[in-house]
Amino acid sequence: MIEVQGLTKRYGATTAVDALSFEVRPGAVTGFLGPNGSGKSTTMRMVMGLDRPDTGWARISGRLYGELSWPLREVGALLEAHTFHPGRSARAHLAALAAGGGIPRARVDEVLGVVGLSDVAGRRAGTFSLGMAQRLGIAAALLGDPEVLLFDEPVNGLDPEGVRWIRELMRSLAAEGRTVLLSSHLIGEMALTADHLVVIGQGRLLADTSVRELTADGRSLEEAFFALTSGSAEYRGVTTQPVPDAHERSRGVTKPADTERNPR
Ligand SMILES: Nc1ncnc2c1ncn2[C@@H]1O[C@H](COP(=O)(O)OP(=O)(O)OP(=O)(O)O)[C@@H](O)[C@H]1O
Ligand SMILES: [Mg+2]
Repeated sequence: MIEVQGLTKRYGATTAVDALSFEVRPGAVTGFLGPNGSGKSTTMRMVMGLDRPDTGWARISGRLYGELSWPLREVGALLEAHTFHPGRSARAHLAALAAGGGIPRARVDEVLGVVGLSDVAGRRAGTFSLGMAQRLGIAAALLGDPEVLLFDEPVNGLDPEGVRWIRELMRSLAAEGRTVLLSSHLIGEMALTADHLVVIGQGRLLADTSVRELTADGRSLEEAFFALTSGSAEYRGVTTQPVPDAHERSRGVTKPADTERNPR
């Protein structure tokens, strides 16, 4: 499970993540939705220990990222701008990660197979297309067979077959009992992939609810999303929070967070 509690991150005058609290449970795909710049990637980076929160914390299976003994075996992530050495082959890249992460070497060819890169495993990763690079990033996330997985826009650059493949991969990882947090701008795709949703706007929690509940009134997920992010939503059972106006934000004033979760 992933727990995020009172997480806040400021970059100068910008409050990227604002007193954000939510939990991501095992056995389901949790979609992480929000407009551009709403703080999704920043939140995921803080969960992965790549950015330091100003306040609050994020825990993976009860511990901070820095407290994990074998991080790659406990949590895997595909983050935006995932980097690998362009001169290394896909196989060499994963082998180096495995060696450093206490992961058996045999796992490398296994995950190359899972992501469909076996045939190009010896090619320099720098020559990969965007979609192939995304698949390599997913292979790296899966390498340690972790219980907890975060994917930031994994569908980016994938062809229609790849999009469907991601959907099925996410669903099967959740069906195995893993904790899966997935961000995507493709809301229609999210409606097909996610069970649960965490929606944020301007770094604050707008909704923490199931896809079913959010669309219970017959609206499409896209309509519900726009209603939520434009601040006009009133959904039964949905956790809603006021989004502070731009003036308050620029002065760094934050309202107390409503951390109460939905009754489920
Ligand atoms: N390293 C940084 N330095 C300064 N500002 C940053 C930095 N990283 C993020 N921000 C700002 O924090 C806010 C949240 O950005 P973030 O990338 O987390 O949003 P996002 O929800 O992932 O957006 P997108 O949907 O476009 O990927 C934005 O205003 C962004 O400009
Ligand atoms: Mg992002």
